[in-house]
Amino acid sequence: MAQKRVNVTIHSQEKLAEGIYSMWLDAPEVAAEAKPGQFIAVYTNDQSKLLPRPISICEADKENGRLRIVYRIAGAGTLEFSQYHAGDKLDIMGPLGNGFTLQNKKAFLIGGGIGIPPMLELAKHLDCEKTAVLGYRDAETFLADEIGKFADVVIASDDGSVGTKGNVIDAIKANGLKADIIYACGPTPMLMGLKKYAAENGIECYISLEEKMACGIGACLGCVCHTKEIDEHANVRNTRICKDGPVFNAEDVELLNTDQQRERITSGHQTEGCKCHTIKIKE
Ligand SMILES: Cc1cc2nc3c(=O)[nH]c(=O)nc-3n(C[C@H](O)[C@H](O)[C@H](O)COP(=O)(O)OP(=O)(O)OC[C@H]3O[C@@H](n4cnc5c(N)ncnc54)[C@H](O)[C@@H]3O)c2cc1C
Ligand code: FES
Repeated sequence: MAQKRVNVTIHSQEKLAEGIYSMWLDAPEVAAEAKPGQFIAVYTNDQSKLLPRPISICEADKENGRLRIVYRIAGAGTLEFSQYHAGDKLDIMGPLGNGFTLQNKKAFLIGGGIGIPPMLELAKHLDCEKTAVLGYRDAETFLADEIGKFADVVIASDDGSVGTKGNVIDAIKANGLKADIIYACGPTPMLMGLKKYAAENGIECYISLEEKMACGIGACLGCVCHTKEIDEHANVRNTRICKDGPVFNAEDVELLNTDQQRERITSGHQTEGCKCHTIKIKE
């Protein structure tokens, strides 16, 4: 796995929806190794921000040596990315993380919001019966048509302007859909709902966690998440999302909502170093 920082050229950039951008990078070394569900660390050119921003690989065009990322402007780093043009240079590192393990089972590819982009590369690689269930805020259904070239697509939207009004599980139920395996990426409440739905229905479920990160390569413990099993070597119930993930079997990791995070911090239950969804990285 190439984990060195490389300087690459932006091939093209376009706006897909309000605050959502698609960027193709000329990055042959990284594209050659990329697998669905992996991510790259993207450095800003603003030297005051040291930490790279983790962004999922949306597409890898190995033939032309290009990588695609699709991102939402969340803060200063992604705002800077949105201002770049074709021909500009930036530094990236990757591909990082484990990615999805592809299985030949009837599959749901579930993406919520900015968790949708990795589902495009996954849809291209999965050679099985597959339905992409995509959750949007509104009618700005970025990537749905492109994913639709490789999988059946079912849409849920928060405001009901397109597809089923509600979340991805509402859409699965409303359309009477069934699958034997789930691959998912999206916000924590969605992943918590899917973990429960999968357990209740006996479905194998793999989730990609989009935790805040610092080094991105397993060195700083800035992205640690609580696990079910104790690591025999370190004797803790922790795992690094950047290095051991971001994809985990949903049964193996603990997901916390905001109240549970607060409860864990205030009760002092941090003895095993768990910082899942609580860490604030300062630059
Ligand atoms: C493995 C992985 C894959 C990701 N893939 C994508 C992707 O394909 N497209 C995309 O748009 N985003 C993706 N993200 C989220 C992306 O990394 C953050 O939105 C980005 O780092 C924010 O940087 P910023 O400088 O713009 O904002 P900051 O100023 O750093 O943060 C702005 C706001 O976003 C929150 N934030 C920062 N990082 C994250 C995070 N990792 N998850 C949730 N909230 C965060 C901050 O708490 C803050 O409230 C991914 C994250 C991970 C860990
Ligand atoms: S971000 Fe440093 S260990 Fe994961």
